[in-house]
Amino acid sequence: MENKTNFNGEVVLVVGAASGIGTATAALLKSRGARIIALDFNLQALRKVQADLTLGEDQIFELDISNHDKVKEVVAAIYASEKRIDALINSAGMTGPTNVKVEDISWQEYERTIKVNLFGAIWLTQQVIPIMKAQKYGRIVHVTSIAGKEGNPGMAPYNTSKAGMIGFVKGVGKEVAPDGITVNAIAPAVIRTPMNAATSEETLKYMLARIPMGRVGEAEEVAEMIGFIASKACSFTTGFIFDASGGRATY
Ligand SMILES: NC(=O)c1ccc[n+]([C@@H]2O[C@H](COP(=O)([O-])OP(=O)(O)OC[C@H]3O[C@@H](n4cnc5c(N)ncnc54)[C@H](O)[C@@H]3O)[C@@H](O)[C@H]2O)c1
Repeated sequence: MENKTNFNGEVVLVVGAASGIGTATAALLKSRGARIIALDFNLQALRKVQADLTLGEDQIFELDISNHDKVKEVVAAIYASEKRIDALINSAGMTGPTNVKVEDISWQEYERTIKVNLFGAIWLTQQVIPIMKAQKYGRIVHVTSIAGKEGNPGMAPYNTSKAGMIGFVKGVGKEVAPDGITVNAIAPAVIRTPMNAATSEETLKYMLARIPMGRVGEAEEVAEMIGFIASKACSFTTGFIFDASGGRATY
């Protein structure tokens, strides 16, 4: 029987691969046969992942996804050398201000968070869809957040960006459904990654108190779900927001 969760012969882009959920996903999918292309704007951390996962020099790309021209350029360069892109996993993201009331947030900070989390996700998707349409196959997985479903107080820019991703995924998923492409997202609650180092103690307490399992999630647990969503096995689900919240969200 065919194992549809392997990635043998597949080229998989992991954006935000230098840390946390992105690194765990790159490691898992590599172990399942994927040719990983790891992208991140933190080159130093990316180099460490390159060494740990023994990725070639042509398998890592420095990219700030809030730079539209660079997103176009880098995805085109990857396609030119790889000749295919089977899956895009976008785990890049930033928290932005936490524990700050909406009226006290500078527009500069507000805009930066939306630009990275939402515009970056849109721009990456726009670049890979024509490639995936030509292949008649593709898997797109964005990492959104429980914050996009429920909204965490004091985190207006993050909530806005993650809710925007959810709407984007739902509509585009339907658009490309006839083309062999699925577009899904996963919405984790608190996961143990470096991202939470920047989150205020008060906000972390608020989020943890809402998780029935009473613990934070691990990056590897999210990676396991992404591994399924990004695989051939997940073939009849698109425009969906998968949950990874220890029971906080049951929808
Ligand atoms: N950790 C959590 O509790 C949690 C919960 C819900 C959702 N998420 C989401 O999961 C995703 C991954 O987060 P994580 O916890 O692994 O965080 P992380 O900080 O460990 O990793 C995020 C990665 O994204 C990269 N990145 C940030 N801005 C970028 C940009 N402009 N261009 C390219 N790369 C950029 C960082 O360099 C980093 O390597 C994020 O989208 C985050 O919003 C995380």
